[in-house]
Amino acid sequence: MAKPELEYRIERATKEDLDQVININLRTLPENYPRFFFEYLLERYPESFLVAKLDNKVIGYIMCRVEDAIILSFPIHRIKRGHIVSFAVLPEYRRKGIGTQLLKEAIKALRDVYHCVDVFLEVRISNSEAINLYRKLGFSVSQIKRGYYKDGEDAYEMSLKLNSTE
Ligand code: ACO
Ligand code: ZN
Repeated sequence: MAKPELEYRIERATKEDLDQVININLRTLPENYPRFFFEYLLERYPESFLVAKLDNKVIGYIMCRVEDAIILSFPIHRIKRGHIVSFAVLPEYRRKGIGTQLLKEAIKALRDVYHCVDVFLEVRISNSEAINLYRKLGFSVSQIKRGYYKDGEDAYEMSLKLNSTE
């Protein structure tokens, strides 16, 4: 008999999901945040704060913020950049495409809803799982941030240009 596919859904996160999101963040990443920061991102950028759910259980999340930047070359103009702040899948559900799906949906929202011209993120230079995934989706390293993490590890800043529809 064929193994049944995992029946998860990708949805916008709700306030009720935040306890589980915070738990996953604590379990999977050394970069943790106060609860108000999760609440702020959910309130401010709800379309790009997504969870993967199995029934009512949250098994992965991605949360983002939109940043304004000024381009100083002529003609000077403003752009919006999508910043992937934090992203994780519970260990027992990895390598099933859930991370890819979360990332793709978040990128779509950053492009179509928040009109970002690109997406960027920081990742530990030792985090080859995540780096592989980002590369697979077309991200490339735009800079190295030396000593970015509290323990002194360097970060790659990786970014992806988004096609505008104009
Ligand atoms: N080894 C090598 N490559 C890997 C691995 C691994 N263990 N895991 C994922 N990848 C790469 C592969 O290319 C994989 O494609 P494949 O399975 O066809 O070979 C591709 O990523 C996609 O994998 P998914 O199944 O879509 O990703 P997954 O659901 O496993 O989630 C994630 C990936 C989120 C990085 C997960 O490993 C995780 O939660 N890690 C711990 C938290 C973390 O590091 N988050 C990112 C930090 S950076 C930030 O938050 C901005
Ligand atoms: Zn960041």
